[in-house]
Amino acid sequence: MKIAELSDDIVIRRIATPDDASRWRGGFIGAYQTVFTGFPYFERWFPSEAEGVYKKLLATPENVTLLATRGETQVVGFGVAIPIAFKPDVATSLTGLVSVRHTFYLAELGVLEPWRGKGIGRALVRERIRLIDDTRYTHVVLRVSMNHNPSSEMYKAMGFEEMGVYMDVSAMRTDGKVTTDRRMFLSKVLSQVSLD
Ligand SMILES: CC(C)(COP(=O)(O)OP(=O)(O)OC[C@H]1O[C@@H](n2cnc3c(N)ncnc32)[C@H](O)[C@@H]1OP(=O)(O)O)[C@@H](O)C(=O)NCCC(=O)NCCS
Repeated sequence: MKIAELSDDIVIRRIATPDDASRWRGGFIGAYQTVFTGFPYFERWFPSEAEGVYKKLLATPENVTLLATRGETQVVGFGVAIPIAFKPDVATSLTGLVSVRHTFYLAELGVLEPWRGKGIGRALVRERIRLIDDTRYTHVVLRVSMNHNPSSEMYKAMGFEEMGVYMDVSAMRTDGKVTTDRRMFLSKVLSQVSLD
C-alpha cells in the first residue's frame, strides 16, 4: 500500500499483505544487512537472520512496517513500529516510566548510505508515527546508539526527549567479536489521555 511519494521516485509503502511481504522480502534483507553492517552499529547479520527479523516484525500484531522503495524491487530504507508489549526486554527496562499497554516502540530504522540526507529517514519516522492509533497509544519510544549518531539529532528535532534510561545491547560485530554498545531511550507524547 502506497503511503507517500518522495522525490527521486522514492515511494514509502506499508507492508500489510502476504503478497507485499514476499514481493519486498529480498530488498528488505539486503537493505537491513547493509545498514546495520555499517556505522554506527557494525553488526554481523546473515541473510537468514535478517529474514527472521522481517518475518517476526510482520507477524507482530498492529505492526507498522514501512519500506522506502524505488522501482519494482529496490528497497532503500525501512522503518518499523510495534506495540512495546511485544518487545519484552525493552518493556521491562521502561517499567514504571511508561504504560506498557499504551506505548508504541519504533523498532527499526535505516536508509542506505547513498540515499541519506534526502529526507527519507524523517519521512519514515513521520509516517510511522502518523499510522499509530493515538486514541489507544499515548507515547512512542525508541533507543539509539550513544556512539556519535545523526539519528538522535533527527529524533530530537522531531520532538523526542531523552528519558535518562540506558540499555546495553550485545551483538556480533563484523570483526567476529561480540561486544555491547550502550543505547539511550527517547520518548515522545502522541496524545493527551482522556481521563473519563
Ligand atoms: C538515521 C538515518 C535513518 C537517517 O536517514 P536519512 O534518510 O539520512 O535522514 P534524513 O535525510 O531525513 O535526515 C534527517 C536528519 O539526519 C541528519 N543527517 C542526515 N544525513 C546526515 C549526514 N550525512 N551527516 C550528518 N547528519 C545527517 C540530519 O540531522 C538530518 O536533519 P535535517 O533534515 O534537519 O538536515 C540514516 O542515517 C541511517 O540509516 N543510519 C544508520 C542506521 C541508524 O543509525 N538507524 C537509527 C537507529 S535508531
